[in-house]
Amino acid sequence: MTIKTEYTAIAPHGGELVDRRAPQDEREERKQQAEGFKKVGLGPRTLSDLEMISTGVFSPISGFMVREDYESVVDSMRLANGLVWSIPVTLSVSEEEANDMSDGEEVALTDGDGRVVATMTVEDRYTYDKEHEAQDVYRTTDGEHPGVAAVYRQDDVLIGGEVTLLEDEPNPRPFPGYYYEPAELRALFAEKGWKRVVGFQTRNPVHRAHEYIQKSALETVDGLLLNPLVGETKSDDISAAVRMKSYETILDRYYPKNRTVLAVFPAAMRYAGPREAIFHAMCRKNYGCTHFIVGRDHAGVGSYYGTYDAQHIFDEFPAEDLDITPLMFEHSFFCKACEGMGTTKTCPHDKENHVFLSGTKVREMLAKGEYPPPEFSRPEVVEVLINGLRDEEKIIKQPRNFAE
Ligand code: ADX
Repeated sequence: MTIKTEYTAIAPHGGELVDRRAPQDEREERKQQAEGFKKVGLGPRTLSDLEMISTGVFSPISGFMVREDYESVVDSMRLANGLVWSIPVTLSVSEEEANDMSDGEEVALTDGDGRVVATMTVEDRYTYDKEHEAQDVYRTTDGEHPGVAAVYRQDDVLIGGEVTLLEDEPNPRPFPGYYYEPAELRALFAEKGWKRVVGFQTRNPVHRAHEYIQKSALETVDGLLLNPLVGETKSDDISAAVRMKSYETILDRYYPKNRTVLAVFPAAMRYAGPREAIFHAMCRKNYGCTHFIVGRDHAGVGSYYGTYDAQHIFDEFPAEDLDITPLMFEHSFFCKACEGMGTTKTCPHDKENHVFLSGTKVREMLAKGEYPPPEFSRPEVVEVLINGLRDEEKIIKQPRNFAE
């Protein structure tokens, strides 16, 4: 595949897209060899990281982090080579497992079924301070924070080193029609002739506020990448399967087809607020986006972060170190007096005129089959969500046949 890079205005982070896949004709032999290696089992989160590293979404990262990178990322939001990176990408093992390995040894990385999906050269084994990581990356040591809880659940030693992927799909790809690797998305944007592309991260259905900021951004660029996160999220977030149906519906009814691409972002959600906004922006840059939307409480959870902390963090970096341009949006809403969408920047009316519903309130309404007002969410989207939630409940309520 040739990539018409002249159309893509932005280089990948670090200059080149990482590709850590073994050539097809070497895979069988390498897999057989790997059967004799020590095995390290990956969970959904680390499998997703492996996939993102190997396909270049995490460029310039080519493996799980060694101590030098890990500490530099935690302490200064940069890799040891100085490139901006705000979230640790790590692989943990128990002390016994780590003691049993030696530096330079190749280990096999396996999925939940014990299938070898990759190998890794163990370049480093090191202990780390989970609370320190929690405080610096998540700005809290509270174990109730879902991202912090995930760090606390990890084993006590981190192993770092370059990975080599031996499977096309180390992780299930539930939405194959919407799965694009960075090189593929870049090629697609080039084919469409888009030079300026804005990326939109979401873990929610697209409500009117999302639609408003996406379309406001789209007015000034060539194309919109709707890039919903479909990796691991906390259990009360709406499932990716239901959300994908809702995206199809809203795109079909309300978005120009020649200006919008829907593609999944197969990363796990960290809920790291400001730090995750930087991380999200770097990944979208690798996909070929020149702009990235950061609205209110981006990647936040509960009240751990200030409403605009995820915007302020961009001020900590010189623009050329990020390259991708963040597009910041204030809290947006439907205003009854304006009879349209706006933000406090563009609407002069007071709060009584603004239609606002909290995420919790919306979830409660949907669960009861109640429609949030059309000023909040397109009715067609609500219908998909309510039906989807009903179906999922049906699935959960179906008695399990233990004889199977
Ligand atoms: S996130 O965890 O993926 O950031 P969400 O799907 O709610 O959560 O948000 C997607 C993007 O839209 C984020 O950039 C967020 O800041 C922005 N956003 C969500 N709701 C609003 C709103 N009412 N006004 C402005 N920006 C918003």
